[in-house]
Order: sequence, then C-alpha cells, then structure tokens
Amino acid sequence: MATRTQSRPTNSSRSRGSSTRSSSSNESSSSSRSGNSSDRSAFSWGDNAGPLLGAAIAGMAIGFAANYGRKALMQGMEATVGDWDAILAAEHDLALAIFDKMLATDSSQTFKRKMLLMKLTHALDKHAHQEEMVVYPALRDANEAVDADHLEGEHGYIKTFIYDLNEMGADSPTWLDKVREFRQLVASHAHMEEEEVFPRFKQELSEEQNSRITSLVNRDGFWMA
Ligand SMILES: [Fe+2]
Ligand SMILES: [Fe+2]
Repeated sequence: MATRTQSRPTNSSRSRGSSTRSSSSNESSSSSRSGNSSDRSAFSWGDNAGPLLGAAIAGMAIGFAANYGRKALMQGMEATVGDWDAILAAEHDLALAIFDKMLATDSSQTFKRKMLLMKLTHALDKHAHQEEMVVYPALRDANEAVDADHLEGEHGYIKTFIYDLNEMGADSPTWLDKVREFRQLVASHAHMEEEEVFPRFKQELSEEQNSRITSLVNRDGFWMA
C-alpha cells in the first residue's frame, strides 16, 4: 500500500510535467503551423484533386462494371444449364475435363501444369462454395446431415490435394500420380452427389423449393465467378 501511495504522486507529477511539456510544444507547433499555411491538413487533397478524384471514381466504376459483366457472362452461360443439380453436374464435368488436360502433360510443361492447376483450383473453389453455402445446408435442414457432413469432409481432402500439388512443384516426378489420385477422389465424390444424394433430395423438394435452391446456387456462383 505504502509503495503504491508513494508511486502515485511520482507518476502523476511525471504525467503533469509531460502534459505541460506537450501542451507548450503543441502551442508552439500549432502556432508555427498557423503561421505556415492556413487550414490545410495532412489529408488535404489539394486544389487539383477534383479531376483526379473524378478519374479515380470513373476508373473504379469501369472496373466494377467490367467485372460485373464478366461474372454475368460466366454465370449466364451456366444458368442456361437448368436446375441446381444440372448446374453442379456441369461443373463436375468441367473439373474432370481440366484433370484430363493435366494428365496429358509431361514434366517439361511446368507452366501449363501451373496454369491448369490454377484453373482447377478456381473451378473447385467456386463449386465447393455453392455446395457448402446452399446445397449442404439445405440437405441438413432436410435431415440429410450424415451425407452433407460426409461430402463436406471430402471437400477438405480436395483442398489438401490442391495444397500438396502446389507444395510439390509442377516438375515433381510424382505430380501425375498425385493428379490421378486427386481425380479419382473428385470423380467418386461427384458420382455420389449426382447418382445418390442429389436425386434423392430433389425428389423431396417442392417445385418452389427447387427453384429457390437453383436461384441461390446461381447467386452464389455469380459472386464466386
Ligand atoms: Fe461436393
Ligand atoms: Fe459437387
């Protein structure tokens, strides 16, 4: 207690001293600022900021519109496929086709392998997001949690393959074996969805519920495109 009582005045006198110092230094610096330039802050845009700001906003708007158009085009192409299950099945086919291109490469084609892996990663990422944010939650709500959890668990292993392929390097002698194993997992996962889980679930849905899931899958795919 005594120590604490003793230390308090020391601290407060130190802080008083420093506040006096800082207040006087503030005064001098503020007076020097006021003598320097009127009221321009460090965040001032300057006199010519108007046109620059306008150009920056216009550039951002063009970029946003271009990206929006690209997404609309990509998603529009997919939306013509049909219901949510047909959209997802088309995405399975797309991913499997990328795997086939990867398997047709040799170890000298490292650039092509890297590009194909990037393309596959983006396709699978978008696809997994649509399933994990829409279809699997809807499955759980329809008392199909066991299948939904199993499928979502497999998505984790799909990400592990992507991680491993990135880590091992495109010229690795075991790259093709890894891709082949990866393709098998995606093919059997897609088969379970297309042949067992999705048809069974779709049978239970009303026309309205089915349309709602299709709309949500399309919307999610749009933002992920
Ligand atoms: Fe899946
Ligand atoms: Fe899928």
